[in-house]
Amino acid sequence: MSYDLIVIGTGPGGYVCAVKAAQLGMKVAVVEKRKSHGGTCLNVGCIPSKALLHASEMFEEANHSFEALGIKIGKPKVDWKGMQAHKDKVIEGNTAGIDYLFKKNKIDIFTGTGRVLAQGKVEVLAEDGSTQIVECKNIVIATGSDVMPLPGIEIDEKTVVSSTGALELDKVPGRLLVVGAGVIGLELGSVYQRLGSKVTVVEFMDKILGPMDGDVSKQFQRMLKKQGMEFKLSSKVTGVDKKGKALEVTVEPAAGEAAAETMEADVVLVAIGRRPYTEGLGLAEAGVKLDERGRIETDAHYKTNVDGIYAIGDVIKGPMLAHKAEDEGVALAEILSGQAGHVNYEVIPGVVYTSPEVASVGKTEEELKAAGIAYKAGKFPFSANGRAKAMLKADGFVKVLADKETDRVLGVHIVGHGAGEMIHEACVLMEFGGSSEDLGRTCHAHPTMSEAVKEAALATFAKPIHM
Ligand code: FAD
Ligand code: NAI
Repeated sequence: MSYDLIVIGTGPGGYVCAVKAAQLGMKVAVVEKRKSHGGTCLNVGCIPSKALLHASEMFEEANHSFEALGIKIGKPKVDWKGMQAHKDKVIEGNTAGIDYLFKKNKIDIFTGTGRVLAQGKVEVLAEDGSTQIVECKNIVIATGSDVMPLPGIEIDEKTVVSSTGALELDKVPGRLLVVGAGVIGLELGSVYQRLGSKVTVVEFMDKILGPMDGDVSKQFQRMLKKQGMEFKLSSKVTGVDKKGKALEVTVEPAAGEAAAETMEADVVLVAIGRRPYTEGLGLAEAGVKLDERGRIETDAHYKTNVDGIYAIGDVIKGPMLAHKAEDEGVALAEILSGQAGHVNYEVIPGVVYTSPEVASVGKTEEELKAAGIAYKAGKFPFSANGRAKAMLKADGFVKVLADKETDRVLGVHIVGHGAGEMIHEACVLMEFGGSSEDLGRTCHAHPTMSEAVKEAALATFAKPIHM
């Protein structure tokens, strides 16, 4: 059997590419070494973390917000095993969904580790040690990414954990020390903070969520502090020692001038980024070039330097996000079937699923300043939004950045309840090259949180009504 396309890795990049290619008439096979499909995202990433984020947010609401809404209940208790069972059921349901899609689209599945032997030849090594060689016209590498280790610190996934271990701790730790104030650190830190852990986040840079808009990062840190999360910025963790049942963590200033201090924790979560996963793929032997950061180098059409070998998702450059991987999967399937597949990297939203959520698309103020682009900013707080007040979700704001001359919207940043849903009207607007006036003059239903998006847009070219 020879295939039109073999996709190695069935994460959001790989499975979406396979499904789209099959929909476009190609004979497709996938190779996956995990027992279940869906990659990092469905098994140990986006989906399980959101299951725990939602459950812990509900607990937090019941614990602290119900009374203010006029609801009296007894003191809610955390059933950690129950929360884990909820998470596991969600993973099962979602990964089973991918099996269904493969079957529906007549995609063949090879279980094992895929290795590129040459153009058009993939070897699959099964768990029992047996191998088979599968032939095809084109190969797509969608092997994703893996945890970035912290030099000198051993991750045992029990007390010193990566995000994977943090999703299945035996119990809620008394003290959690998070290394890295990025997306994983703040999301999983929030889960445990709500469930009762004392959470301290040690971050190398002088701000949390480094690439986000400075305004967003500053105000969001204030909100997390109010929730009880502690931060040690401009600092790095240089050692973790077991001391009885506890961990002694050595923390040094990032600049390295002052003396080191030690902190105690029960669990340490290392969340300092992820790195492309190319191990065991035989890329060097096949002559596939990597870039300086170990990512597979591709052209704008996802083609590597070797004909017939393509790559998408976390394993190539760009933000390590599931929706970016998915869109590349679709674009590549379209390109391979002769269509004009395309991803607009200027309009890829980023969402942090904390409470409140943080959502962002396009340029930050810092990026616009650095690029010398003249812009105007409009801002509107949720404290002036009726729906937000009715729901006791009045923290946060919307900020719209538009070109000073043309009024074209260049970036939208939201901190607030439901920000991850609201950001998409900005994405559609930006995809069509819309202006802040287009957004500000679009009728928004009342009362909705989204009215704050309209008002922030109004604030860039006129005056908002409710402020
Ligand atoms: P992956 O999902 O990593 O899939 C790659 C697959 O390839 C894996 O199943 C792996 O087993 C398989 N594989 C690797 N090598 C081989 C081989 N040689 N042979 C066969 N199979 C192989 N992104 C978001 O957009 N939103 C979120 O909310 C979000 N939350 C996250 C939370 C956590 C805790 C983590 C860790 C990540 C999160 N991400 C999130 C990032 C997201 O998971 C990744 O961007 C996304 O999964 C990348 O998709 P991918 O298809 O490129 O790779
Ligand atoms: P990240 O890149 O978001 O954050 C890592 C943080 O660790 C940075 O702020 C960095 O300055 C800091 N850091 C690096 N070395 C350090 C050190 N030695 N000491 C202290 N701090 C240090 O990476 P993270 O959080 O691990 O997430 C990995 C990827 O997963 C992200 O790129 C993100 O795209 C994806 N992800 C996306 C989510 C979402 O979209 N909601 C959720 C979770 C992960």
